[in-house]
Amino acid sequence: MYRTLAVLSVVAVGATAVFAQNLDVIKSRRETMQTIVAGSATNFGMMKGSVPFDLAKIQANLKMYQEQAAKFKGLFPEDSKTGGDTDAKPKIWQSKAEFDAAADKFVTVVKAAAVAITDEATLKTEYPKVISEGCNSCHKDADGFAPPLRESFKKPKP
Ligand code: HEC
Repeated sequence: MYRTLAVLSVVAVGATAVFAQNLDVIKSRRETMQTIVAGSATNFGMMKGSVPFDLAKIQANLKMYQEQAAKFKGLFPEDSKTGGDTDAKPKIWQSKAEFDAAADKFVTVVKAAAVAITDEATLKTEYPKVISEGCNSCHKDADGFAPPLRESFKKPKP
């Protein structure tokens, strides 16, 4: 009897390990995305004229996107597909190379914007590309790696 219980508990521990979701990494990637989003809200506000124009701040944010995006790519281990109110789509794990390429493309688009944005006029012409070609390489209406941006923006903070 004792022996059976011991075996059962070993099996139970094993099963827990298999099904346990990596909630820390999900929290961490949501926070990483929120850091990018906070910077983006500032840049977007300057583009719309609701936040005073500040080139140094814009450039600092664009640099921050690149650092955070590099980190973001590594926050999708196999044990983080569900749980923690994640919005990450299964496609991330089905097409990992494509996902990594989308993250790299975001960095490329952001780097180009950092060179092109030199004043308020160029912010207005170049920043929309960061969103349409950068953010939207993952956030798509269909078959994306994340929900469309308008839905992600409604997401309650963890
Ligand atoms: C490399 C792909 C990728 C790029 C590029 C990207 N995102 Fe995301 N984003 C994701 C994924 C995946 C999630 C879902 C993360 C989760 O819930 O585990 C997400 C989540 C979000 C969220 C919800 C955060 C939360 O509270 O959970 C917002 C808002 C968001 N993204 C906005 C943006 C904006 C704005 C940009 C561009 C400046 C951007 N994203 C660029 C993949 C990306």
